[in-house]
Parts: sequence; structure tokens; C-alpha cells
Amino acid sequence: MRLVLLGAPGSGKGTQAALLRDHYGVPHISTGELLRAAVKAGTPLGLQAKAVMDSGQLVSDEIVLSILEERLSRGDTGPGYILDGYPRNLAQCSALDALLARLGQPVERAIQLDVDAELLIARLAGRALAEGRADDNPESVRKRLQVYEEQTAPVIDYYRHQQKLTAVDGVGALEEVFARVVEALDSRYA
Ligand code: AP5
Repeated sequence: MRLVLLGAPGSGKGTQAALLRDHYGVPHISTGELLRAAVKAGTPLGLQAKAVMDSGQLVSDEIVLSILEERLSRGDTGPGYILDGYPRNLAQCSALDALLARLGQPVERAIQLDVDAELLIARLAGRALAEGRADDNPESVRKRLQVYEEQTAPVIDYYRHQQKLTAVDGVGALEEVFARVVEALDSRYA
């Protein structure tokens, strides 16, 4: 299971990736989580990334690729992986393909979680109240959605052209969405 999870901010990538990790027994690799851990640890890279993340923009391709390479070097991705939040633009698609070709672990599937903008905003507003994530304020959320449309939406076409993409309805209870994703994955693997 070598999977890329795609979708706008708040579409449920992190939530579904955690369920898929447990279901398929492969690591969940989230560049957002890796960056937040670097910010929390106060590493030089985290210090550079923090202001960019808080404003809802993308961190530089070089920084994100370096943390991803470091994560993949741990050697636990033999059985596969679930990538969440990477790639996020076409330059990252190329960098990822090159990196994974070197590791002999190319992406097999891409799942796009489809959720309308109104619900995305409502979910992120709910998380802002519950958890206070620094980039869940209304202004940063607006910017994240804009960045997604402008820079990340082309990534969907990238995987569609490779015939690796399945779009899944991301609206509904967590378990319902999870069942749809598993059905999409298992039907192709069967
Ligand atoms: P990242 O952490 O990747 O954030 P994101 O893409 O904005 O996504 P979210 O975590 O907000 O949403 P999600 O789709 O994972 O949904 P979730 O499951 O959390 O990136 C953060 C920042 O890091 C970026 O803005 C950028 O600065 C930087 N960054 C990261 N990767 C980068 C890269 N590759 N290049 C450059 N910069 C990068 O769910 C959201 C909420 O909805 C939760 O409260 C959840 O409980 C709820 N929810 C989920 N599913 C459901 C459901 N079915 N029903 C009801 N509620 C639900």
C-alpha cells in the first residue's frame, strides 16, 4: 500500500490516514505533522517554517523535501506508506517521484477526499475552538484554501493522468468516509 492522500485543508486527510495506518499496517507520514514537530522542538528548520505555516502559505519545497527525506530514511516504509500533505505542488510531484524511484517505492494510488468549501471552513472553525491550531484562524484558513486551489489542485490532475487517482466523497461520518476509501483501495488491489 503506497498511497498519497489528497484533499483541501479540513477534508479529513489526517483523520483518514490514521485509520488507514491501523487498517493496513503502514506508516502515516504527514509533512504538516513533521513540520509542527520541528516548530515545537524549536529546530532551525522549525523556526524558519513557523511564520510561513501560521500565515497559511506553503513552506519552501527544499525544507519540506529535506524533512520528508529524513523521515523516509527511517526504513519503516518497506510494506508501504500513507503520504498526507505531500506533494502539494507540481515541483513536489517531480521531487517525490525522483526520491521514491531511488528508494524503489513508487506511489501506487492517490485518493482525493472531496468536501465542499463551506464544510471545510466549518470543520476548521470547529478545530480552532477545540484545539487552537495556529493556522486555523479565519484569515489563515482563507489563505490555505486559496493556496490549495492555486498550487495543489494541479496535483490531482498529475495523478489522474497517471491513472492512479480515485476521488472519494469525504462528507459524512468518519467511519462512512473510511469505508468508502477502503472500498476504493481494495477494489483496485483485489
Ligand atoms: P497540513 O498539516 O498538511 O494541513 P492541511 O492540508 O491544511 O490539512 P488539515 O490538517 O487542516 O486538514 P486534513 O485534511 O488533514 O483534515 P483533518 O483530518 O485534520 O499542513 C499545514 C501547513 O504545513 C501548510 O499550510 C503548510 O504551511 C505546511 N506544509 C505541510 N505540508 C507541506 C508541503 N508539502 N509543502 C509546503 N508546505 C507544507 O480534519 C480537519 C478537522 O475536521 C478535524 O477537526 C477533524 O476532526 C474534522 N473531521 C475530519 N473528518 C471529518 C468527518 N468525516 N466528519 C466531521 N469532521 C471531520
